[in-house]
Amino acid sequence: MSEAGGGERALDSRAVRKLFPYLEEVTYLNTATTGLSWLGQGAAAARFYDEHKARGYSAHLQWRGELEKTRELLARLLRVPAEEISFASSATEALNGVAHSIRLQPGDEVVLCEDEFPSIVLSWTPSALQGAELVRVPIEREEVRTDALIARISDRTKVVSVSHVHWGTGTRVDLKRIAAATQKVGARLIVDGAHAAGAIDVDASVADLYTGSVFKWLLSAFGVAYVVTKSSFAAEMNPLFRGYANEPPSRKLQFSHPNYPALYALSATLEFLAGLGWGPIVEQVNSLSGFLHRELRREGWVVVTPEDARAGIVSVVHDDATRTVARLLEQDIEIEERAGLLRISPHFYNSEGDLRRFLEVLGRNPSVTR
Ligand SMILES: Cc1ncc(COP(=O)(O)O)c(C=O)c1O
Repeated sequence: MSEAGGGERALDSRAVRKLFPYLEEVTYLNTATTGLSWLGQGAAAARFYDEHKARGYSAHLQWRGELEKTRELLARLLRVPAEEISFASSATEALNGVAHSIRLQPGDEVVLCEDEFPSIVLSWTPSALQGAELVRVPIEREEVRTDALIARISDRTKVVSVSHVHWGTGTRVDLKRIAAATQKVGARLIVDGAHAAGAIDVDASVADLYTGSVFKWLLSAFGVAYVVTKSSFAAEMNPLFRGYANEPPSRKLQFSHPNYPALYALSATLEFLAGLGWGPIVEQVNSLSGFLHRELRREGWVVVTPEDARAGIVSVVHDDATRTVARLLEQDIEIEERAGLLRISPHFYNSEGDLRRFLEVLGRNPSVTR
């Protein structure tokens, strides 16, 4: 379990749900798109303006203190040194920043899964590649995602970039094995943890750079993302964007102020979640996604998310996914369609009751007879 601290007692789900009143109105199974804010998060963001920025620069030590606290809380959650954590305005900005700051040359390869999240693929523009080849590995089946990626790593590979948990299919890759394969050929490993941190136990120290947005499984704001950069990797970078926060000879990617109100909301949320216990949170996500996986299969659905490589997302083959999402919404059940799949993403604030309601309205796969 995570080193993030907090009690290991089971979640008091009734007390938890009181802090997410929207769950009384809607069966919300869409955290992979956006997590629910808890009552108290708005007040935490307002503290920046009302208590600190109301005093202008005189309060700068207070907001810097909050920044340090956020880094400490993230460091414990992600198992990395706090000094390696910086902030960008989004994971997409961080991915573009790193892609444009690495030195590459013709003959080098950047290796990705073919169906990666758009920000991972698109950050490798021709100017970022500098003549290197972008290798997009086809993934035939979710069970072989990790193996297929590793199999394509060669002596020419300089960068491997991968989602820790895939945004569409929910597959959790084996980061340790991918890290070992990249290290063997001296390549760098860049990871997007958007669907991992907050849902599963994460050890970001295996990656050279690990970034993630915080508005999904960490329930927090848009406009801020954490970026963990190994110091040995940072030392190799030639940042494309420069500013007062990374004047030469600094190699840091962060070039200006972070989004302080968003950090106040994030640090309060990390404290709140650590107080509930990261262990029980991760266990609840695992138990709900496991239950969903079993019950969907029992009802004849093809679940593409591998049972032994899942996080919080469970994705299902459906020949009319868009219409089904709309039909469920009419019954106040929120899920998403991604790449033609039904994507269901419960978080710790959901209950088995929420999943039973979803399963009942979804019904049995009509193309399968008992
Ligand atoms: C895998 C993945 N990475 C990144 C993002 C976007 O994050 P950001 O808005 O911080 O760039 C998303 C979803 O919006 C995502 O699913």
